[in-house]
Amino acid sequence: MKHHKILFVCLGNICRSPMAEYVFRHQAEAAGTAHRITSDSAGTSGWHDGENMHRGTLQKLAAQGIDNSGFTSSKVKKTDFDAYDFIIAMDDSNLAELERLFGRHPEKIFKLTDLIPESGYTHVPDPWHTGDFDETYRLCEAGGKALLKKLGLA
Ligand code: 4NP
Repeated sequence: MKHHKILFVCLGNICRSPMAEYVFRHQAEAAGTAHRITSDSAGTSGWHDGENMHRGTLQKLAAQGIDNSGFTSSKVKKTDFDAYDFIIAMDDSNLAELERLFGRHPEKIFKLTDLIPESGYTHVPDPWHTGDFDETYRLCEAGGKALLKKLGLA
C-alpha cells in the first residue's frame, strides 16, 4: 500500500497551512486511513519559525473537536521536494514561490483550491488579513476531503 506524504504550504505557516495539515490528518483518522498518510506544513517566509499556530487556527480546530497540539512553524526547505509526494499551496503567491524553488510540476505542486473547483474559490484567503478562520476551515475541510478521494483514502 502506498504511503502518501503531503506538505501544505502558505506564507507564514501559522494560519492556513497548519489548519490544512491538522484537518487532513483528522479526516484520514476518521476514514481509518491515517497510517497511509503523512500530513505536514511549512511556510515560504520563515517569519514565524519556532512559533505555535495562530490563536484563530488553534481555536477553530478545538471548536471542531480536532487535535491542535504539538505544532511548530517552519520554513519550506530545498529537501522538501524529494521528501513529499504532493506540495499543496494556499494561494498563487505561495505557488509562485514553490515553483521558483522547485520548478513547475503541476501534478505534484498545485493549489488546494484546484481540488475544489465547485467552491468558486481560486485560493484560500489569508485569515491573517481577513480574520475569517471559519472560511479557512471550510476550504481546508472541502480540500482535504477531495484530496482523500483523489488518493483513494476516503
Ligand atoms: P498564513 O498567514 O500564511 O496563512 O500563515 C499569515 C501569517 C503571518 C503573516 C502573513 C500571513 N505575516 O505577515 O506575518
